[in-house]
Amino acid sequence: MHKGKATRAIHGRRDTEKLGANYPIYTSTTFAVPNSDTYEQDWDTFDFYTRISNPTIRNVEEKLAALEEGEDAALFASGMAAIMTTFLTFVSSGEAIASSRHVYGGTYHLLRDIVPRFGIDVHFLDDDELYDLPQYAPQAKLVHFETPVNPTSRCVSIASVVESARQIGALTTIDSTFASPINQNPLRFGVDVVLHSATKYLGGHSDIMAGAAMGSAAHLRQIRDGRKLLGGNSNPYEAALLDRSLRTLQVRVEGHNRTAQALAEFFETEPRVGAVHYPGLPSSPAHAIASSQMTGYGGMLAIELEDLQAAKTFCDSLDLALNAVSLGGTDTLVSIPVLATHIKLSDEELAAAHVTPGTVRISAGLEDVEDLIADFKQALARV
Ligand SMILES: Cc1ncc(COP(=O)(O)O)c(C=O)c1O
Repeated sequence: MHKGKATRAIHGRRDTEKLGANYPIYTSTTFAVPNSDTYEQDWDTFDFYTRISNPTIRNVEEKLAALEEGEDAALFASGMAAIMTTFLTFVSSGEAIASSRHVYGGTYHLLRDIVPRFGIDVHFLDDDELYDLPQYAPQAKLVHFETPVNPTSRCVSIASVVESARQIGALTTIDSTFASPINQNPLRFGVDVVLHSATKYLGGHSDIMAGAAMGSAAHLRQIRDGRKLLGGNSNPYEAALLDRSLRTLQVRVEGHNRTAQALAEFFETEPRVGAVHYPGLPSSPAHAIASSQMTGYGGMLAIELEDLQAAKTFCDSLDLALNAVSLGGTDTLVSIPVLATHIKLSDEELAAAHVTPGTVRISAGLEDVEDLIADFKQALARV
């Protein structure tokens, strides 16, 4: 039986020599083999060069695998490195990727502008099209999607996408960054590979860049092979910081969930706010799907103000919340998607992503919620 998530996130490898509570940072890039025959073993089973495997990084990968209920995990230098390495591992020139249209802006640009240069066709689909892949992308080799969706926290049915992808024999990859492994475990619904920007909730303090892929041993073996040559590996210092962060993952994410819920309920009562997007609100169109596949509704919400000027005035009037991109840290952040993550999207693409000029995305931090509400209240009064 699995131990609880907090236990899995805290207890990893042990330093058997000194019995430390924390696992050492192995700074070596190279490790001597006990004898020359070792090289004839499977390279995945021993640490000999840090781009391929390192004990400090492996400790974190084992924890990440356990948290997502996967057999293995691979740690990367960034979320984008995890995403790109996974795409290039499983899809070749002449094949196709079907991707949700509603993905993180960087992933969208990667799929629109870079991936096709490798001779890979990319089909962007809406949610209902993802649920009917035999009709909309029957030739896709890989299906990529996100839920909750950045920036509006709409939700996609994981089970429906998996069922549809199975009908065309495609591999499924999900970016589960917004949820974190505390709120959602997509492997339970049959997804093949779960991807995270570990820069966000897993790191949790806005001081680490990292990415992760989790799944079966067979899929991870292929991804690690891809990482070995593409070179998007993490490093022992970053891995040790991430190990520190994982120890508080559960309490942090539960705190983010509570704060986001309280903020969403507050914004719903504010006349200057046109719409509040948060899956934890019973009024949200995402509530039913979220309740069927998430154990917490997450720390991300979005509000709609009248126009871009109102969004700018609101963000520039805040004292506590920082007007900054990224998410998942202890500090509450606000950002205007049309000026940041979604800046290069056409009007048509913005409409398809349900983003308006007045949309403000909020990453609920861990400050006292009364202080945040007071700050948001005074900023709204200036709009
Ligand atoms: C949902 C999501 N996926 C992936 C990424 C990319 O991650 P990274 O910045 O760690 O490369 C981000 C970054 O904002 C993101 O929000």
